Amino acid sequence: MKPMKFKLIEIFLFLNLCCACVVAEEKIRQAKITYIVHMDKSNMPESFTDHSLWYDSSLKSVSESASMLYTYENVIHGYSTRLTVEEAESLGKQSGILSVLPEVRYELHTTRTPEFLGLGKNSALFPTSDSMGEVIVGILDTGVWPELKSFDDSELGPVPSGWKGKCEVGKNFNSSSCNRKLIGARFFSKGYEAAFGPIDETMESKSPRDDDGHGTHTATTAAGSVVPDANLLGYASGTARGMASHARVAIYKACWLGGCFSSDIAAAMDTAVADGVDIISMSIGGGISEYYGDTVAIGAFTAAAYGIFVSCSAGNSGPRPSSLSNVAPWITTVGAGTLDRDFPASITLGNDEQYSGVTLYNGKQLSDSVPLVYGGNASNSSSGSLCMAGSLIPEKISGKIVVCDRGGSARVQKGVVVKAAGGVGMILTNTDTYGEELVADAYLLPSAAVGQKTGDAIKKYLSSDHNPTAIIGPGTTKLGVQPSPVVAAFSSRGPNPVTPAILKPDIIAPGVNILAGWTRAVGPTGIASDHRHVDFNIISGTSMSCPHVSGLAALIKAAHPEWSPAAIKSALMTTAYTAYKSGEKIKDVATGGPATPFDYGAGHVDPVAALDPGLVYDATVEDYLGFLCALNYTQNQIKSTTHRDFTCLTSKKYTLGDFNYPSFSVPLETASGKEGGTGVSSTIQYTRTLTNVGAPATYKISLYSETQAVKISVEPATLSFSAQYEKKSYTVTFKASSMPSGTTSFARLEWSDGKHIVGSPIAFSWT
Ligand SMILES: *[C@@H]1O[C@H](CO)[C@@H](O)[C@H](O)[C@H]1NC(C)=O
Ligand SMILES: *[C@@H]1O[C@H](CO)[C@@H](O)[C@H](O)[C@H]1NC(C)=O
Ligand SMILES: *[C@@H]1O[C@H](CO)[C@@H](O)[C@H](O)[C@H]1NC(C)=O
Ligand SMILES: *[C@@H]1O[C@H](CO)[C@@H](O)[C@H](O)[C@H]1NC(C)=O
Repeated sequence: MKPMKFKLIEIFLFLNLCCACVVAEEKIRQAKITYIVHMDKSNMPESFTDHSLWYDSSLKSVSESASMLYTYENVIHGYSTRLTVEEAESLGKQSGILSVLPEVRYELHTTRTPEFLGLGKNSALFPTSDSMGEVIVGILDTGVWPELKSFDDSELGPVPSGWKGKCEVGKNFNSSSCNRKLIGARFFSKGYEAAFGPIDETMESKSPRDDDGHGTHTATTAAGSVVPDANLLGYASGTARGMASHARVAIYKACWLGGCFSSDIAAAMDTAVADGVDIISMSIGGGISEYYGDTVAIGAFTAAAYGIFVSCSAGNSGPRPSSLSNVAPWITTVGAGTLDRDFPASITLGNDEQYSGVTLYNGKQLSDSVPLVYGGNASNSSSGSLCMAGSLIPEKISGKIVVCDRGGSARVQKGVVVKAAGGVGMILTNTDTYGEELVADAYLLPSAAVGQKTGDAIKKYLSSDHNPTAIIGPGTTKLGVQPSPVVAAFSSRGPNPVTPAILKPDIIAPGVNILAGWTRAVGPTGIASDHRHVDFNIISGTSMSCPHVSGLAALIKAAHPEWSPAAIKSALMTTAYTAYKSGEKIKDVATGGPATPFDYGAGHVDPVAALDPGLVYDATVEDYLGFLCALNYTQNQIKSTTHRDFTCLTSKKYTLGDFNYPSFSVPLETASGKEGGTGVSSTIQYTRTLTNVGAPATYKISLYSETQAVKISVEPATLSFSAQYEKKSYTVTFKASSMPSGTTSFARLEWSDGKHIVGSPIAFSWT
């Protein structure tokens, strides 16, 4: 009987499993996901009189039951809807359909910064509040906490005429939530709800209200009003203000607790363009792909064509090379650097050695030394060293300070794990990946984060002492930390993974330990057990550096309303700095050595210089179309990206090198069979055009190169401008020797009239 029984069970299991896989396959076939359907609007069949009828009929032809989530009119022509894979495929084959893109989920990727950026002492150079009040910064993020003082409107005049935005009401948000500062607030949840079901209103508000904090932080960084006596738990006290403190703010909430979906992002961008924003700030990132498959790139193209400046975060996937997102040339891609502010706390070991870490903890301090233990040695799990949830053995942790390695989980979450296991403190140690980068957090128990060297020293002490102990002192706020800025280890790096011939990131801005406004829906750490409420929070990421550049772009826009987005970006890039006042190159905290243009692009933003750049590399929609021709995009791919009918001229030679970008990236080939050889393998010429935005002046070229492998020459070496907006072109010739594949090298080209320096980085890479 017994064996038989086993057999039956086995058969049953087998059937059950097999059944499960058939069901699973069937489920996948029938499961609907959201697609964004791009229609070829200019080629509507004549039988239709109206676009919406045509869109409807195309959808009905593949699915009787599907309805549209959104229709798009500006940045995309078309709609989003839920379809099965089969239905989507069949729709994609119809004429008049440019593309059917599956939904992509995107992720969310300040008191000191105005002074650090030199905005404080040069106020006379900046636009008056009247012209500033004409500029509208659109923030596409998690919404807003409108009651903050950062949205005080008492210094602002009437809302700019022509503004078409709205204050949408919803849960915890009514029309009185908006004012003359926060002039618009909308939310886009149809894609999110289609994927996850109706929003759980006990968890998040179906309205522009920010239940996360990220959106309030980015909005107030870009354009928050001046707030005296701001701080986080006593840290970083001072006057908080956004970069463009007199600009208007419009909120487009497209990110929810479960992420941001491309159908919602597309709708938010579509609406922001129609509302009339001047700047779009997007601190989000997602799947990287060719531009015709990237909703953010597509939306940003049309925004740029409307004269809207779009800045995006570069991503937090550094220091890994080629880890960038948001790399389209019509987007300003922003990496992150540090400020000259730090939050040190002392760590004293039982052997009396003292080290310094950083912390934003402000609760009850340890009164005495306690035993110290390494998480990796208080766990049965290989993830114990990272203090992952459930990995620490309470008997080995209780009453001790636990040393945890950074990575694998959120930094503050590790503290929660330690506390739950009975630990009384935490030292967070950097390993290889993050080097000496110190990110401060508002921990829930006495804690400090330390760099790799200190971490290694503490572990050495742990291994060598039978009764290791430590005490963590209280944190403080320290200003004037040098060197600063340094490139943050987490800041995503080049080369550009989509178009290597365009150097990215474009620029870096402050993104480490930034103080700005916060939501009251969650505590400063954002974790459930954190019941503290704060008006300001200190957080880090390229999400924080992006709105700095968005706000600075608003300042430039107010000073020069006629400038194109490309001109504003050029002004920011060509005036950026790459060295400290001492002349030493900006450092990369990940390596401790000098950073390169693959880390910081054109350099660190210098807003005072950017107001008066002298010359700019401008670019029009035609230039961007020529760029897509140089990429050999088909007419359909160009149309999917730009929503324009454009045929690349067969008579014209389009090259990426001639695309009028303010920086240079020169991919070079390694001659086969002569790896490392010295023979000249290629001569490349790039032509660029400068527009004079200053007074008449004569500019002379200077070249700085760190490589002998490429000879650089510029023709002509002098450019004389006799009028404002006059354009002059020049040609750079690169004579490159063959170098081993994978070699990179850098140079710099500067035009100067003695008053302005118009600088461009040059990155060479041999493949
Ligand atoms: C909505 O408006 C009323 C009256 O104008 C106000 O008392 C209330 O606090 C507002 N609610 C929110 C969530 O802003
Ligand atoms: C860890 O391993 C030890 C020895 O194998 C065992 O006694 C203990 O229960 C384990 N602890 C946990 C938390 O898994
Ligand atoms: C962890 O435990 C091992 C084995 O007892 C020991 O050799 C090592 O030094 C400990 N490491 C630390 C950092 O405490
Ligand atoms: C586009 O095609 C031309 C001609 O075939 C080729 O030389 C060029 O390298 C291609 N460009 C890119 C970016 O692939």
